[in-house]
Amino acid sequence: MVDVILGLQWGDEGKGKIVDFFAKDYDVIARFQGGPNAGHTLYVNNNKIVLHQIPSGIFHEDKTNLIGNGVVLDPVTLKKECAGVASMGVDYRKNLYISERTHLILPTHRALDKASELSKGHDKIGSTLKGIGPSYMDKTGRNGLRVGDLLDKNFTTQYIKLRMKHQRLLDNFNFHEDISVWEEEFFEALEFLREFKIVNGEYFINEKISSGKKVLAEGAQGSMLDVDFGTFPFVTSSSTISAGVCSGLGIAPQRIREVIGITKAYCTRVGSGPFPTELLDATGDYLRNTGNEFGSTTGRPRRCGWIDLVALQFACMINGVTQLVMTKADILDGLDELKVCRAYNINGEEKNYVPFQMNRLNIEAIYKSFEGWNTSVSSIDSYAALPEKMKTYINYLNDYLKVPVKYISNGPGREQIISA
Ligand code: GDP
Ligand code: IMO
Ligand code: MG
Repeated sequence: MVDVILGLQWGDEGKGKIVDFFAKDYDVIARFQGGPNAGHTLYVNNNKIVLHQIPSGIFHEDKTNLIGNGVVLDPVTLKKECAGVASMGVDYRKNLYISERTHLILPTHRALDKASELSKGHDKIGSTLKGIGPSYMDKTGRNGLRVGDLLDKNFTTQYIKLRMKHQRLLDNFNFHEDISVWEEEFFEALEFLREFKIVNGEYFINEKISSGKKVLAEGAQGSMLDVDFGTFPFVTSSSTISAGVCSGLGIAPQRIREVIGITKAYCTRVGSGPFPTELLDATGDYLRNTGNEFGSTTGRPRRCGWIDLVALQFACMINGVTQLVMTKADILDGLDELKVCRAYNINGEEKNYVPFQMNRLNIEAIYKSFEGWNTSVSSIDSYAALPEKMKTYINYLNDYLKVPVKYISNGPGREQIISA
């Protein structure tokens, strides 16, 4: 049996915290896509840690963690992350496994990411520059190197061939930055990676499932950043949706039970691209400052706005979401009025679907207003004790989305979560 936790917006919904919270009920926690572009924040014993590639179950000693074949892995980042979790007393060598089919991010992928963004000028994606796009391009272009290739004698020859291909591309971009330090770090990190438990991920996970173990698949990014269904081209390069779990881990769709979708009580986006409910005013600043909305991976200020139910309903549809978790409810505590986008005005017509090429249309959000609850909720620990005005807000989401909000997160801490 497999349950999935994924983000329904443009990432940073609080997936790390929620996976860490739910991990106790599972045996295996597996990442199925994305790479070090992700930044999943956890608070463990009041210490903050940001995970990029390691699944967010790593702080539960008795759980198995798997980096699946659908991930693109940067060994340099992995080495740093491992040092971080080890400093918190975790023996990651014991319970962290990597699929041999996982593609590697090479230093030249990072350089190509940068070169590509520079060449785009005003149309840049706002990539995290971690080499994600170029690495997935080498995967679908059938050129990439995989973790399992490390164990091959001719790995270095394969590397050099690919390196030369990349050099020609970099020359075309007129990109001549010195990346020798990155390459040095990379080769050191490869030695570190060779020591890992590198497994055949698809047999590994299916054997666990067949023996009755429970798997939690942890999404990265969010549905609106999905390469097919997101706000293309302002998206990431992987399948961030529930379908990505099957191809990113090698499991059959019938194995998936619950799809737990995470949404903030409002909405954020980092990087370029359409964002119909964006607030470029004092309320937007308020959300950013109160919610500490600065990227976990890049530190960039996140764009902030009201919750967008048109986009959320779309995300629930394509993922088959069975339950919702609403995070950062506490960030709305200080607002007198709250708004919820219930439809889009596109060329004077009211629409309730996500259009093709959102970036080329003038979309105006149509809102429904709610009274703010104006009280601090961060120490509340039962649904009954939540302000009635928050319940009205939640009930509207339930009715609109036809998927129940089952949990409300009211603070970054591990235990700050309320069952509805
Ligand atoms: P992820 O990428 O989806 O894992 O999310 P990030 O870690 O990038 O960003 C979410 C941020 O919100 C982190 O700083 C979390 O510690 C914090 N967070 C998560 N849930 C809550 C919540 O309910 N309330 C508050 N105030 N912060 C939260
Ligand atoms: P988590 O897992 C928020 C965004 C980038 C950029 C676009 C493409 O922490 O939610 P990429 O580096 O993939 O080429 O960037 O996607 N992006 C994220 N935004 N959270 C993330 O991950 C993101 N990963 C990528 O800002 O707009
Ligand atoms: Mg994040």
